[in-house]
Amino acid sequence: MKSGSDPRPAEVRARVSAVADGDVSTCEFARPTDPCAVVIMGATGDLTARKLMPALFNLYRSGGLPEPFLILGGGRTAWSDEEFRRRMQSSVEPAAADAAAWGRFAAALSYRRVDYADEGSVAGLVAELHALEEGAGTRGNRLVYLALPPALYQPVAVNLGKAGLGKRRRGEGWSRIVLEKPFGSDLASAIELDRRLHAHFAERQIFRIDHYLAKETVQNVLMFRFANSIFEPLWNRRYIDHVRILASETLGIEHRAGYYEEAGVLRDMFQNHMLQVLSLIAMEPPPRFEAELVRDEKAKVFSALRPFPTASLETHLVLGQYAAGRVDGKQVPAYREEEGVDSGSTTPTYATMKVFIDNWRWQGVPFCLTSGKRLSQKTTEIVIQFKQVPHAMFRRTLGESITANRLRLAISPDEKITLTFQTKDPGSAVCLRTVTMDFDYHQGYEGPRLEAYEKALLDCMLGDQMLFWRQDGVELAWAFLEPVLEACEECDGPGPRLHPYPAGSDGPPEALRLMERA
Ligand code: BG6
Repeated sequence: MKSGSDPRPAEVRARVSAVADGDVSTCEFARPTDPCAVVIMGATGDLTARKLMPALFNLYRSGGLPEPFLILGGGRTAWSDEEFRRRMQSSVEPAAADAAAWGRFAAALSYRRVDYADEGSVAGLVAELHALEEGAGTRGNRLVYLALPPALYQPVAVNLGKAGLGKRRRGEGWSRIVLEKPFGSDLASAIELDRRLHAHFAERQIFRIDHYLAKETVQNVLMFRFANSIFEPLWNRRYIDHVRILASETLGIEHRAGYYEEAGVLRDMFQNHMLQVLSLIAMEPPPRFEAELVRDEKAKVFSALRPFPTASLETHLVLGQYAAGRVDGKQVPAYREEEGVDSGSTTPTYATMKVFIDNWRWQGVPFCLTSGKRLSQKTTEIVIQFKQVPHAMFRRTLGESITANRLRLAISPDEKITLTFQTKDPGSAVCLRTVTMDFDYHQGYEGPRLEAYEKALLDCMLGDQMLFWRQDGVELAWAFLEPVLEACEECDGPGPRLHPYPAGSDGPPEALRLMERA
């Protein structure tokens, strides 16, 4: 979708048909046609190898990249173009299987050494970019991806702006900058980062990525809610008992101790992914499916979040940190034993929080958000727990309690929607059983699929900000979490108790108790 006054890039729409339950549904796969240069700052890093390069190559193979395009990697290490191509090839899985496609793709890759904080060095990279653009014919359209530690965002953005990659005049082509979360480490630093960015870039040029929003099943939340008429009348405090949002991981912190020790689970997962998912479940329908209108509705949810009772935080928040244990049959160390982690660290790797939304629709409905590392399984899901039937007419045979309906939107690794309900057991006696109705997200669909980073990169090239954070949302999310972060950090240690949990478990039992009281 188009936002602001950025000239809308031309796009091609491929129509793909899917047959499901006898219906023919039509899906649109928008491809950018504006030629463009993708500049990756931080090209030697993990994000480039694990996510960006595979996504760009997959887009190339499926015809999702515009022609012509070029990719310029910038990093501190002195690599040649050849070295860069070789390393990227080894990070891209299907490259070996599709050597011809890789060869054509790799011809568009170049690399330059750059010292990010040095104005002259960044200007040198931009001069190289000009020369490459001239040769490739990308007409001055540029996407600059900051795959860098957040501390470098400000100096790099400022240096890029000074080198002319910031605000554009009409007819100069478009220029966009993409940032990974975290956007600041608290409200004040987020505001300051934004101020520095805006000195050189307009809001419509800034893409604050949240890869959760680009997951197919997360995007589907709005379709599920607003393209069906049967769920929305039930989607409120009258029928919903509580909502659970879970993002559990089996992974530990990998090699990110430096970042994670500062961030912890609250900054790493809650300030961004968890609150975004919450906003999709809780928002009102926007008048049209357009970036600004959707983001307006999300901002209203963030501003309706009830402030945490900081005096009795334990009733709303349980924090944990993993101890040693077994995950997937393998012994793994405690968080405090991970390389680079302080042996007395109080950084939480797990949190469950109970959140309320103070508005007409959701008054009194608890939203329980859980995320943690080194848990028993990798699961991302949203569970809508409906209320029990209002009157127990089967009381004489079945007693008072009948299992209430539950809707599960499985995000990953399952991509499913499941509805549980009660049905009569066959036979002469009156007996009920709980059954589920399952929909597999890919059922009946054979068209193209996009991984989260493919979708996010595509949208950046199209200039569509729908799936990206807007600054007001960033600030509201920080404002909501900040009192909790302060309470957790005061006196150099978490205010609320930090509960240890064995790696490979389901988290601290205290959290289960908190959820039971939901
Ligand atoms: C990232 C966090 O944003 O999301 C990581 O920084 C986390 O710590 C990851 O592991 C989880 O993403 P996904 O897509 O695997 O659920």
